[in-house]
Amino acid sequence: MNDSTKNIIKSTAPILKAHAEAITTQMYKILFAKYPETQTLFKDASPEQSKKLAAAVYAYAANIDKLENLTKGIEKMASVHVKSNILPKHYPMVGDALLQAIKSVLGDGATDEIMSAWEEAYGFLADVLIAKEKELYLKG
Ligand code: HEM
Repeated sequence: MNDSTKNIIKSTAPILKAHAEAITTQMYKILFAKYPETQTLFKDASPEQSKKLAAAVYAYAANIDKLENLTKGIEKMASVHVKSNILPKHYPMVGDALLQAIKSVLGDGATDEIMSAWEEAYGFLADVLIAKEKELYLKG
């Protein structure tokens, strides 16, 4: 991720914080409508889940240039994901839904530049989680 991408992500962090729950609510709506096969993965999910994901997205945006601050959170997310049988193939589905949700909440503010920065940032975080989860799956 280059500095320009990171700066765009950081500049959108406060907007995401303000709309975090709207974004995640919207994201789940899109995810389950477009990829109904993901619904069973959330069957044991706590009602707090959408708040946690919202908080994670904001924390990620705010810490994009100091990702070491997120190490603990990433470990926790990966271990919860492994317990829920999340696989690499699910990441593009969530990514698609999340980006669409961000776009709809930002409205006219969702410029191509902002959207491609988010696409890249999501891909980066997804790769980190996928790698961590692979380690955990291999450990068994
Ligand atoms: C970069 C992408 C993702 C982020 C930032 C993220 C974030 C989170 C966070 C913060 C939690 C809560 C962890 C805790 O309880 O402390 C969580 C749990 C969970 N995530 Fe993700 N996640 C991502 C991708 C995915 C994908 C691709 C799926 C599958 C479609 C998924 C499904 C779940 C499920 C089922 C839980 C457990 C819910 C529960 O039992 O309450 N996540 N995720």
